[in-house]
Amino acid sequence: MLTQAELDKRGLKVTLIEHPLVQHKLTLMREKTQSSTAFRSLLREISWLLCFEVAKDLPMRMKDIETPVEPMQAPVLDGKKLAFISILRAGNGLLDGMLDVIPSARVGHVGLYRDPETLEAVEYYYKVPHSMSERLIVVVDPMLATANSAAAAVQRLKDGGAVNMRFVCLIAAPEGIEAFNKVHPDVPIVTAAVDSHLNDHGYIVPGLGDAGDRIFGTK
Ligand code: PRP
Ligand code: URA
Repeated sequence: MLTQAELDKRGLKVTLIEHPLVQHKLTLMREKTQSSTAFRSLLREISWLLCFEVAKDLPMRMKDIETPVEPMQAPVLDGKKLAFISILRAGNGLLDGMLDVIPSARVGHVGLYRDPETLEAVEYYYKVPHSMSERLIVVVDPMLATANSAAAAVQRLKDGGAVNMRFVCLIAAPEGIEAFNKVHPDVPIVTAAVDSHLNDHGYIVPGLGDAGDRIFGTK
């Protein structure tokens, strides 16, 4: 696993969440004996902490309220509701926890799967909220491997009007960060870990295997 200092040295633009709770929970998730139930719960818990990081500079405004003691001006979120965009299927594992933290967010879905031969992303579904250009768009998918899926999803969202975007994942490969930085330098990446490399099948090493299968128990 690479540290933030090592990533900076290699010129990879990414924010690593090194919080001990995130790291502990991720280690539990990686273990191959972990049940789908535990895997899903841990992913949900980690996504709370990732959500706090990605939302840390949301615009605020002051609002007049009255406490039981006296009136005051207090801060509330400003602007159009942000939108979470889940890259199906595995993105839904992160989405659930994000919605625990920001229940009023809008939600969109981009259905993509990786062709096992070419590793290219193939789109099969697209549905997103209106007024994309006016919202902060947070794209979620646990794995950034070649980055073909994330890059295709973000391009599709840009074509649909999105301008202010962030990408949140659980584990990224250096190859994926480099590729994503190249095509979408304007979209910051937030991740809990950056692993060693990709294997010949485009899987992250050591990674955690197939995120979708582990979330939904399909293998
Ligand atoms: C996984 C993962 C990402 C993609 C990452 O999805 O959830 O979307 O692979 O790989 P990439 O960076 O090389 O594109 P998968 O295609 O297995 O589909 P699934 O979520 O439906 O299981
Ligand atoms: N998709 C996954 O689910 N895992 C990987 O390691 C790579 C792509």
